[in-house]
Amino acid sequence: MINVGILGFGTVGTGTAAILLKNRKLLKERTGVDICLKWIADLDVTRDRGIKLPPGILTKRASDVLEDAGVQIVVELIGGTTVAREFVLRAIRNGKHVVTANKALLATCGMEIFRAAEKAGVAVGFEAAVAGGIPIIKVLREGLVANRIKSIYGIINGTTNFILTKMTSGKAEFSTVLKEAQELGYAEADPTYDIEGVDSAHKLAILASIAFGSQYSVRNVYREGISWISPMDISFAQELGYTIKLLGITKETDGKAELRVHPTMLPSDYLISKVDGVFNAVYVEGDAVGSTLYYGRGAGDLPTGSAVVSDIADIARHLSTCPRGGYKRPGISGAAMPLLRMDDVRSMYYFRFSAIDKPGVLSQISGILGKHDISIASVIQKERLAGKAVPLVVLTHRARERDVMLAVKEINRLRMVAGKTVYIRVEGKEL
Ligand code: HSE
Repeated sequence: MINVGILGFGTVGTGTAAILLKNRKLLKERTGVDICLKWIADLDVTRDRGIKLPPGILTKRASDVLEDAGVQIVVELIGGTTVAREFVLRAIRNGKHVVTANKALLATCGMEIFRAAEKAGVAVGFEAAVAGGIPIIKVLREGLVANRIKSIYGIINGTTNFILTKMTSGKAEFSTVLKEAQELGYAEADPTYDIEGVDSAHKLAILASIAFGSQYSVRNVYREGISWISPMDISFAQELGYTIKLLGITKETDGKAELRVHPTMLPSDYLISKVDGVFNAVYVEGDAVGSTLYYGRGAGDLPTGSAVVSDIADIARHLSTCPRGGYKRPGISGAAMPLLRMDDVRSMYYFRFSAIDKPGVLSQISGILGKHDISIASVIQKERLAGKAVPLVVLTHRARERDVMLAVKEINRLRMVAGKTVYIRVEGKEL
């Protein structure tokens, strides 16, 4: 029998406990090991979580779990990087295997945790840290182990995908839809982490670390959120055959890794463009397998609990076959792949200029773009308001980020340009 202790009885803690209790027999049939939920620790032991627990397993003291010699696996579901870090390191020091859903922890102090775990010969499972119920960590580490990973494109935040989907279908403003998402419980009262792309950046750092065998931190990820996206840009994108998604993108380019999170225009006929609402999806391209796509729920008690329990089952299986053997599967290994600076990233771009409707404006703008080596693929101007500002939309061929930033700065200074230029990176086939 393997004993498990959970730290944190919130949404994911509840889902994990429910699965361990309900599917105990099934898990035993599948793994050959009886996995027993011995403890759940939380400061709040009175709130009704809607599940029936065996008597005596709830405790207010984390030390009941961390110091219990009978517990082999500690599941950290507290979140954050302070108490959670302390408890995870303490569990490892005490020789316990750890399972966590904490992307912020791994994306900020992952190396410290993996090193400590390797030294102690224990496992750290973190399937639930990225894309909730989608087993993307196992996909990268096991299913696609034969492949050199060429690129990953992920919708890895359900809150922002819900907001962008609603803005697209209802032609609604960002702030209106954010409020609706908060009322539905999809977005937190303080939604900053989700809408500013921080949550996606944490998850992308983890995916890139596994894909490229290097430890990247959230600080290595270029990041933009979605709060500035307007219905006007969504509608221009649609007209041009694109859908706007908040993507986490990592690719190997000339032996360097790009890591970026930003709103991206994707061809609407791509499968990933059709992933709507709170769902997540991760596209992975390997050199042997080619294109693959994984889809599912990225949050919630049972979907995330499903990923947590998969790590518990893995460790339980390992322990049943080599009970004394150290667990030698560090999270990240291999030579570090250097980062490609954001300035050197090449992408296609959508620009929306607020140009005064007068002869010669387009030639001024295109002159600046040309000077910075940015080649225009198409132009739309729909409105006609002589002497007033109108949206002028330009799609470009692939250009270098540094050149684009310089060109935008110069264009924004033109007298015939009335407001700040909006730019959105475009993925897909070269125009
Ligand atoms: N806040 C995340 C999301 C879920 O909206 O997808 C937890 O990772």
